[in-house]
Amino acid sequence: MKIRLVDKNDIAAILAVQQKSPEAARWTQSDYERLAEDPGGKILVAELETMDPPKLLGFAAFHRILDEVELRNAAVDPEHREQGVAKALLEDARERLLKAGAKRVFLEVRASNKPALSLYCSVGFALHSLRKGYYRDPDDDAFVLALELFPPTVLSPL
Ligand SMILES: CC(C)(COP(=O)(O)OP(=O)(O)OC[C@H]1O[C@@H](n2cnc3c(N)ncnc32)[C@H](O)[C@@H]1OP(=O)(O)O)[C@@H](O)C(=O)NCCC(=O)NCCS
Repeated sequence: MKIRLVDKNDIAAILAVQQKSPEAARWTQSDYERLAEDPGGKILVAELETMDPPKLLGFAAFHRILDEVELRNAAVDPEHREQGVAKALLEDARERLLKAGAKRVFLEVRASNKPALSLYCSVGFALHSLRKGYYRDPDDDAFVLALELFPPTVLSPL
């Protein structure tokens, strides 16, 4: 499996994965194109390069403003879930975002989305706050999760 930056030719395959993932944000082709062209935007894709043509397994879409990043959308093809694809995407993103000067990543997730919560906990996200009744269709609370990319500096006694 290879993790790389999105190419404009990937967007149809990203939309196909999104279509099979009702928990993902419902974005249009131009939403992805705009984010990919935004200087603060970063979309990573995971692909199975041993297939001909390579198959897009999943994606993660980020937006950075100064040292804060928002994970705005992510999904993995249902046929390839629970095989470490999303974790590989987030671990790769962490290295790239650190190099770009980011200090923390935030995201919102439905409180009922157990697979996503397991994923985010497994890469070190922690609960930042709760937004009661944030989601509609169906109604749900949102957890705001945060991942510190730099461990906090521990002050030693003077
Ligand atoms: C959430 C999602 C991206 C996870 O992708 P994935 O490739 O299956 O996740 P991974 O295989 O990398 O798993 C990462 C961790 O989460 C855990 N996990 C993933 N799916 C799980 C599930 N259904 N139940 C329990 N734990 C799960 C894994 O065990 C793993 O934990 P570990 O590292 O401690 O072993 C995928 O389920 C998905 O696309 N869901 C629909 C879209 C969505 O919810 N997007 C997020 C919106 S905020």
